[in-house]
Amino acid sequence: MTQEVRQVDEVSQIPEITKQIEGINQDVGQGRGVYISTYGCQMNVNDTERMYSLLEMQNFAPVDKPEDASLIIINSCSVREKPVHKVYSEVGTFRKMKEKNPDLRIGVGGCVGQQEKENLIKNQPMIDFVFGTDQIDSLPYLVADSFMDREKRISAKFQHRAPYHIETMVRNPGVATFVNITKGCDNFCTFCVVPYTRGREKSRPLQHILTDIRHLVKRGMKEVTLLGQNVNSYSDSDVDFADLMAKVATETEVERIRFTTSHPKDFNQKLADTMAKHQDKIMEYIHLPFQSGSTRVLERMNRIYTREEYLEKIAMLRKSIPNVVFSTDIIVGFPGETEEDFQDTMKMVQEGGFETIFAFKYSPRPFTKAAKFEDQISEEVKTERLNRLFDMHDKMSFELVKRYEGQILKVLVENTDREEGKVHGRSTGNKLVHLKGTPDLIGKTVDVRITRAFPATFHGELVQ
Ligand code: 5AD
Ligand code: SF4
Repeated sequence: MTQEVRQVDEVSQIPEITKQIEGINQDVGQGRGVYISTYGCQMNVNDTERMYSLLEMQNFAPVDKPEDASLIIINSCSVREKPVHKVYSEVGTFRKMKEKNPDLRIGVGGCVGQQEKENLIKNQPMIDFVFGTDQIDSLPYLVADSFMDREKRISAKFQHRAPYHIETMVRNPGVATFVNITKGCDNFCTFCVVPYTRGREKSRPLQHILTDIRHLVKRGMKEVTLLGQNVNSYSDSDVDFADLMAKVATETEVERIRFTTSHPKDFNQKLADTMAKHQDKIMEYIHLPFQSGSTRVLERMNRIYTREEYLEKIAMLRKSIPNVVFSTDIIVGFPGETEEDFQDTMKMVQEGGFETIFAFKYSPRPFTKAAKFEDQISEEVKTERLNRLFDMHDKMSFELVKRYEGQILKVLVENTDREEGKVHGRSTGNKLVHLKGTPDLIGKTVDVRITRAFPATFHGELVQ
């Protein structure tokens, strides 16, 4: 059977497609199950929430296992090669399910969808539709079409000209949730595929963000994380990121504010002062990726700062914000990275005093400049360097977090533990803390004395 692959270019064209299917109503799902498999960053987690919300409006019912679903969507990540491989292996699993149940529909969204477009369907014919990161709102149309006829659909155009108007859709905000403030990235770090999979950088209007946060607070949210690939370059007319944070702190009832991810080049004194001024609300935790400790490598990465400038930012922030806690992202084995460059990265981890690091082997990505650099590093060297980095950091972080033992931290309780009689939450410095407690503590900020501090989790007891 030959199947046509049709490109749905702009949202404005989508109604034409649905019109072809006369008599379609909103009850496309008819109570059938939908399962979304999510990879990658928090942005994708938020996008999945949006997809579920849209599909619930069409009367699909979210299910926990793909076996119970009539519609499966893979919300994919392509920041490194590994998650892309996972998508393909998952497609393989779902193909077997489709052989047994031909009525099953399979869609791929997210960054691999954006990157591969029709190639995905050409390579994996069991996929029914593909949609890009800017086309989540076309999902109901794609799904409706898919259930009404068997024609394949692609919807992966960026809407470069459209403003970023996208109200937050979360099914259950819980105590802590995320609100998108920017999307896309214009930095073009030479290793990164994001500018190609998420498009140009855009900011949501300030008032939309404030309205979302106020609504979420009414639904029980206590802590908001402002989300974007590059939050510090937020801009709405004359409102910058520091102004936005001040507004969220003073014009909404949210108790705690966090943000991610920041670019060192945009982290300025004004932002540090704003964090210090509103420290009762803006949490003293900053995720500030440095990527490499070598100025030579940073230049080839197009990061627009030197090793010294990064360390100066850290010093400035430590001076302005008492108790500030940093985490960072690091890439090892970037093309041309020498042992000396790598030693600079190891030293930077120590000098920065990072309690948490997220470190990755460099992975060449499509469209990116660094993928074409000729001095690629072998897999063996990358693995060996990554192991050395983690070994060094494991020892260092054990020592660093010991200082918390005996301290009293303010913890916002988020949920119950699997272990009965226990709950967990986050400290102001973003440490996961477990303590004895009952579900009535959920949503409350309590004082907790830390009894044991491990790099990833703390244990403590309630201070009455
Ligand atoms: N290879 C390895 N790591 C990468 N990252 C982004 N692109 C790549 C790549 N090509 C890492 C960076 C970034 C984090 C989200 O993923 O450290 O900050
Ligand atoms: Fe990628 Fe660099 Fe943009 Fe971060 S700032 S999303 S690493 S291009």
